[in-house]
This record gives sequence, C-alpha cells and structure tokens, in this order.
Amino acid sequence: MTDMRTAAMDHLWLHFAQIPSTGPVLIERGDGCYVWDSDGKRYLDALAGLFVTEIGHGRSDLANAASKQAETMAYFPVWGMAHRPAAALAAKLAQLSPGDMDRVFFTSGGSEAVESAWKLARQYFLAKGEPDRMKVIGRETAYHGTTLGALSITSIPPIRAPFEPMLNQLVTHVSTTNQLHCDRCEGPCTLHAADEIETAILDQGPETVAAVFLEPVQNSGGCFTPMDGYWQRVREICDKYGVLLVSDEVICAFGRLGTWFGGQKFDYVPDMITFAKGVTSGYAPLGGVITRPHIADAFRANDDIVWHGITFGGHPVSCAVALANIEALEAEGIIDHVATNEGLFRAKLETLLDHPNIVEVRGTGYFYAIELMKDAANMVPFTADEAAELIGHLKPALLEMGLIARADGRGAPIIQYSPPLIAGEDEFDIIVDVSRAALDQSLAEMAG
Ligand SMILES: Cc1ncc(COP(=O)(O)O)c(C=O)c1O
Repeated sequence: MTDMRTAAMDHLWLHFAQIPSTGPVLIERGDGCYVWDSDGKRYLDALAGLFVTEIGHGRSDLANAASKQAETMAYFPVWGMAHRPAAALAAKLAQLSPGDMDRVFFTSGGSEAVESAWKLARQYFLAKGEPDRMKVIGRETAYHGTTLGALSITSIPPIRAPFEPMLNQLVTHVSTTNQLHCDRCEGPCTLHAADEIETAILDQGPETVAAVFLEPVQNSGGCFTPMDGYWQRVREICDKYGVLLVSDEVICAFGRLGTWFGGQKFDYVPDMITFAKGVTSGYAPLGGVITRPHIADAFRANDDIVWHGITFGGHPVSCAVALANIEALEAEGIIDHVATNEGLFRAKLETLLDHPNIVEVRGTGYFYAIELMKDAANMVPFTADEAAELIGHLKPALLEMGLIARADGRGAPIIQYSPPLIAGEDEFDIIVDVSRAALDQSLAEMAG
C-alpha cells in the first residue's frame, strides 16, 4: 500500500463512508474521460467525478486560468465590493440562463447555493410584506445537500435520520416523476406529480409557502425525467399562489442535459436557479444562485441589505476558472456534442434491456440510470435486503473492472452514469460492456 493510502486510512474522513479499515483507492491523475489510481490502474470516469468534470480531466487552459488569477489577485471577497472575475462571470451567467434571469449570488458549493436560495426567498417575502412565507415544498428521495437547511429539503431517510432533531419542520415532500413505479395513474402518467404540489401548497396555507425546490431531472432515485408539461404546470401553480420556483441545477446545468440550463431543455423560466459542480468543471469550487429581476427589485424597493454572505463565495480564482470552462464549452461546441450524442448514448444503454435484471433506462443528455429488478419481465423487484446485497457486490465489481459509475439503492437499485461531456461512442461501449459484466458477476456472487 502506498504511504498516501495509509495516510488516507489513518487520517482522512471520507465523505458518506465508513472510517476506512484498509487504504481506499487513491485517484492520482486524470486525462479526458479517464483517471488513474496510485497503482497506475485506469478507470473510465463515467460519473465525471461527482457529476462535476463536464469538460474532462487534465485541461491546462483551466489550470492556467486559475494560476493567472491567483498571481493577479488570489482572493478578495464580494462583500460590498466586487472584482472583475465575479462581475464577468455574473454577466455571462445572466446571458446564458433562461428568460430574464439577470443577477447572481455566489457561494462555494451546492449546499450553500440551496441554503442561499431559501434565505433569499425568505428576505424577498419579508421585503414584500409577506412575513409568514417561509415553508418549502421539495420532492421525495431528492438530494439538495447536507448543511442543515439544505438537508431539511433533502428527502433521503438515512442521510436525514441522525440529524432529524436538528432539521427544521418547514418542508413538505411530494411525489417524484418516477413513472415506472407510479401507482396513481392508469396508463401513461398524468401530471399528478405536479398537481400534488398544488395540494401541498393548499394544505400548508399558500400564505406560508415561500418556494418549491425541484431538479430539472431528479438525480436521487435514478434520473427521473419530467412528464411532458410537468414544468409548465408547476410554473402555473407557483404563479397562481405567488410561490417562488427554484430549479436546483447543481447537477443539471452546464451541458449535463445537452443545454446550458434545465429551462432550455424543458421550456420554463424559474425564479431562481441554484448551481455548482459543472460551472467550473471541478477545477475550483464554486456555486451560486441566479435570480430573476423581481427578487432584487424587492430588496431595492426597501434599500434592504442581503443578510447573508460566504467568505469564499465568488472566489476570484474559481470565477476565473468558471469563465475559462464556459469559454471552452462554447468554443468546442460541447453542449451541441451532448445534444447530438445523447440519442446514441441512450441507444447503447438500451441494448442492456435484453438483460433479465434490467428493467428500464431513463434520463436525458449525458445523465442516465438503469434500474435493476429481480425479474424485469414480470416487474418483480428485489427485496430491500437483496437490493442492498446486490449494491454491495456491484460497487466493488464496477471499480475492479475499471468503471466509475454510481451503483445506488435509494429507492430501487440502479446504476447511474454521468460521464464527462466530451465522452463518445468508445466510452458508451465501455459503460455498457462493463455494466453488464459487473452485474452478471454480482448476481453470480449472490447466487453462490
Ligand atoms: C441537486 C443538488 N443540490 C445540491 C447539492 C449539494 O451540493 P454540494 O455537494 O456542492 O454541497 C447536490 C450535490 O450533489 C445536488 O445534486
């Protein structure tokens, strides 16, 4: 074991993991869609790190942008003053985002972006003279981050459970757009999942509800895409009751769906977009909230101060990196590359549907999940114990076979793929071949 694997085992808290009793895999370098560990083994990074590395690994232009900015001015806050990288990036995001969205509050990551959107919503309604509007509607199984505010919106029981007493009670969770397991519609799914948001607003009292937080395509549970008309119906409901619509695009923006933002994919304009991850392709940490003019207008009308700030929000180096990342995504036509190739990616994944344990391929852009069942033809699910055992085998099997993908059991067992946006047919083939082999090996291990 290398010294650093020992150091990781002895000294590093791994996130969402047990205290390691062996040295964890140590990823040392990356190039394009691939990364290498400390033993020189190559992996296809079919998760873009953690839905992050849109432009791919090993880009010297992004590294140089960071270095140049660090030399010019490594750090200055955006507390009451501004600096060039933050101003330029805010203007660029205003240009790329849907509709009339025009102002950006920067954070250092996605959880902070969600917290910030909620706090901006709170102050917005105070400014408008509606002080009771604090509550939020989110969706079941959704992940919106881990800080206590964001975790209150997150709806994944094991992640919430240890902290339940510390979470606030201001959130109601409604159904996802999981159409495979919908038991409410006869035939194809109607817009019941959107209508449930209206019911929740009415149950809570419209005068108490501040915002609805939804992802364009819900990650947790496995890439739940919206039914046709879902976003339009949600927009209509939010407008009817004066509730802010927050599109949590920490994963779904910057090309992941083949568009800059979810609004361009599904034709809606939210009141706020939360973003992080892909904005810098991970070459530096950054997140934020993009808002429509009426949010800032409410603050301006009262000369209100934004009672919220984060030291590293809008870090100059991160903003310079984000500008370089967006420039590269534009210059190299990466968003179009996703839009052109998403059909091929899906078609390749759909070849897996002949497997007796793969029941569905779902997602869009470069963001897909396959769902696993005990007997796909007869829609017989794995029991909870079987699913946990299967995931327990799949995770190491995928890694052993050189594929970084997400085998997960929040809800039904799934494998999820979110490769760098530069991926093409070679990578799709590896994803399909290794997934099949890893699943077969895992099922054999379970049977044996
Ligand atoms: C939709 C969504 N919101 C928020 C977050 C939290 O982001 P972060 O991990 O940067 O705090 C995530 C993280 O995966 C996410 O997927």
